[in-house]
Amino acid sequence: MINEVLEKLLADEAVSAAELKSLLDIVDPIEEKVLFDAAYATKRKFVGNKTFFRGIIECSNICVKDCFYCGIRKSNKNSARFQMDEDEIFREAMWAFDAKYGSIAIQSGERQDAAYIDLIERVLKRIKSATDGKLGVTLSLGEQTKETYQCWRDAGAHRYLLRIETTNPELYRQLHPADHSLEERMQCLTFLKETGYQVGTGVLIGFPNQTTLDLANDLLFLKAIDVDMIGMGPYILHKETPLGQTVAPYDDAKNEEMLHLGLRMIAVARLLLKDVNIAATTALQTLSNTGREQGLLAGANIIMPNVTETKYRPSYQLYENKPAIDENSETSRQSLQQRVESIGEIVGFNEWGDSRHFFNRNLKPAS
Ligand code: 5AD
Repeated sequence: MINEVLEKLLADEAVSAAELKSLLDIVDPIEEKVLFDAAYATKRKFVGNKTFFRGIIECSNICVKDCFYCGIRKSNKNSARFQMDEDEIFREAMWAFDAKYGSIAIQSGERQDAAYIDLIERVLKRIKSATDGKLGVTLSLGEQTKETYQCWRDAGAHRYLLRIETTNPELYRQLHPADHSLEERMQCLTFLKETGYQVGTGVLIGFPNQTTLDLANDLLFLKAIDVDMIGMGPYILHKETPLGQTVAPYDDAKNEEMLHLGLRMIAVARLLLKDVNIAATTALQTLSNTGREQGLLAGANIIMPNVTETKYRPSYQLYENKPAIDENSETSRQSLQQRVESIGEIVGFNEWGDSRHFFNRNLKPAS
């Protein structure tokens, strides 16, 4: 079964959720290696051997949402809230630019008020003008109106990440309070596409009650909506959240299981979607020191090093044991470059490293 499914994927033939599930369910390390090697070869063929960096600026942990899994949810009274001002965000963007990262990703908890929308607009314009448009900017600022997405697009952002988290409505309901809506999130993804962003989404992997069939369906959804970028990672618990309280702390065996499920998701996503950008996310690094390199070898091509000032990092804990909270940005840059080169790849310094899929899909004649 596994070889047949791999052959279908390599031939770009349609596959079913059950077929994708068979790859996600692999337990034999030899079979898993076959999967990763096929995904890696597909990555080399469609997007090459360059890894691109996006310096992440976590500019605020203030959030109007109350997701049951997330450490910065509104109801977590033990999270010390912070909001960077315009100068701080700008300074970190310039640090990433000087470090030749090529792109940044500005991320925060969700805020939809006018003061926040203005702050982001101002900082985007300032970054664009100071770098002569040379620094690529991804936003990851949650659900917004179409007007807000348009405003930030006009101010210079050109990529947006908004995870769907899960496409199973029942699971979405279990993960979120009643006023958080899967339909609205899907609507936002449509708005993002309509306003001309390269659009990224992804899911949480391995949370309670989710099956590998759910994950297979999630991957088919990513393909169906024709995403340009994927950011997804294993669920990691946070004790001060309703979901985290129901889950036993991960032991070494559980860490390993979650890491490998995350890696298989990357591999299958690469085989299915081919020319998209896929991030090896920080959650992989939480589960293993070499998690992100393993992600690159399973088909990912993007790493998002944290460039947030160290003093704010302990407050941006979406989940526990988030790595590098005390590592400074400069050390992280050097060690990451070495890690990427140690697996025989090169870092695409000073390049935006846009999603090739975005350009390929825009070249296609409208159907
Ligand atoms: N474990 C892993 N990822 C998480 N996120 C939030 N909480 C957790 C968690 N406990 C992810 C969500 C969100 C992104 C910003 O962080 O997928 O979209």
